[in-house]
Amino acid sequence: MISDRLESLQEYPFRRMNALIKDIPLPDGNSEAIAMWIGEPRHGVPEIARQPLSDSFADYGRYPPVDGTPGLRHTMAAWLSRRYGLPDGFIDPDRSIIPVQGTREGLFMIALAAVPTTRAKGTPLALMPNPFYPPYKAGAVAAGAQPVFMSCTSRTGFLPDLDSLTDDVLDRTAIFYLCSPANPQGAVADAAYLRRAVALARRHDFLLVADECYTEIWDRAPPHGVMQVCAEDDDLSHVVCFHSLSKRSSVPGLRHGFVAGDPDFLAAYMRLRRYAAAASPMAVLTTAEVLWSDEEHVEENRRLYREKVDMAEAVLGNRFGFFRPPGGFFLWLDVGNGIEAARKLWAEAAVKVLPGAFLAEDRNDGTNEALPYIRVALVGDHDSTREGLTRLAETLAEGN
Ligand SMILES: Cc1ncc(COP(=O)(O)O)c(C=O)c1O
Repeated sequence: MISDRLESLQEYPFRRMNALIKDIPLPDGNSEAIAMWIGEPRHGVPEIARQPLSDSFADYGRYPPVDGTPGLRHTMAAWLSRRYGLPDGFIDPDRSIIPVQGTREGLFMIALAAVPTTRAKGTPLALMPNPFYPPYKAGAVAAGAQPVFMSCTSRTGFLPDLDSLTDDVLDRTAIFYLCSPANPQGAVADAAYLRRAVALARRHDFLLVADECYTEIWDRAPPHGVMQVCAEDDDLSHVVCFHSLSKRSSVPGLRHGFVAGDPDFLAAYMRLRRYAAAASPMAVLTTAEVLWSDEEHVEENRRLYREKVDMAEAVLGNRFGFFRPPGGFFLWLDVGNGIEAARKLWAEAAVKVLPGAFLAEDRNDGTNEALPYIRVALVGDHDSTREGLTRLAETLAEGN
């Protein structure tokens, strides 16, 4: 017996990529591949994490709390307030913050707490960008919602076009996943956009889930956050945001982040999480507290990413539709056919990138708007990044 809800879930994009190249050996002369396909920061674990991680040996003898510790929640609330200039007391650490074991699981599980069995006008809908971070769809279908994939192309500024939503759709919407800065394109929603999205959530009674995991990796200006919009009206209703240590602090292996926002919704979400969520070990909780309290290592990460974007600009120029991503660390390059390009890059240059189509849902007519693209993650060290970009430019050069 297997749930029919899983039928619409394809293999995860990274497995699809491995299947795409499984018959192709590494080209001669390349003993090592250059991995630019997964958004796994490789700047190294900050040294300040070493002590708290090793000090917690004895804590493995006890069950850790699923809602973290008061100290950690306080530190997260303080970081959020500092980062977005929120008024004192706006984020109550005990009611408006829940730690999660990496935001992936939190983003998935939140749909289970947000999607009702029915909506007045039919099956509940889950809005999400297209292309999108895959757990959004998995959460939506597991919760029994019908996903609505909102086209995010250069025409829409790579963000969902809010004007395309009809009242009929909005009245059926239970949850709206919004990603800013966006994975994969790096687009950033400005204050006006966020205000509109928040207003729609309140008017049509759905939950706006702002995935802001990349908010600390920015090029020219720090991205606006949805909590800033909530603070304008002193109102957290219908809105939550997710933040992660994985990208900010280069610790994707620590598995830690948090969700903040609407205290009434979060109380229900926490009720579910007490049954279903995996609690992070105490070592992780104490280390997370240290990392959310420090900005120095984050500034250093940001500097390294910016240097790599400079490098990409120098190597790629205006080829492949290159643009500097306002946020995040991915390049979104138009290479004609991203699936063919990814195979070619592997076969001829031992460079592993992700076809854009693997992150996007097909349209009804079977076409895929992200097909022309590849996603290139600038997560390695400078030397391998330069080498990867150079090989990419040479291999995909016209006529090659
Ligand atoms: C858009 C987006 N959201 C959330 C995550 C999840 O990150 P984590 O589970 O490491 O916090 C990722 C990871 O790649 C992501 O790209």
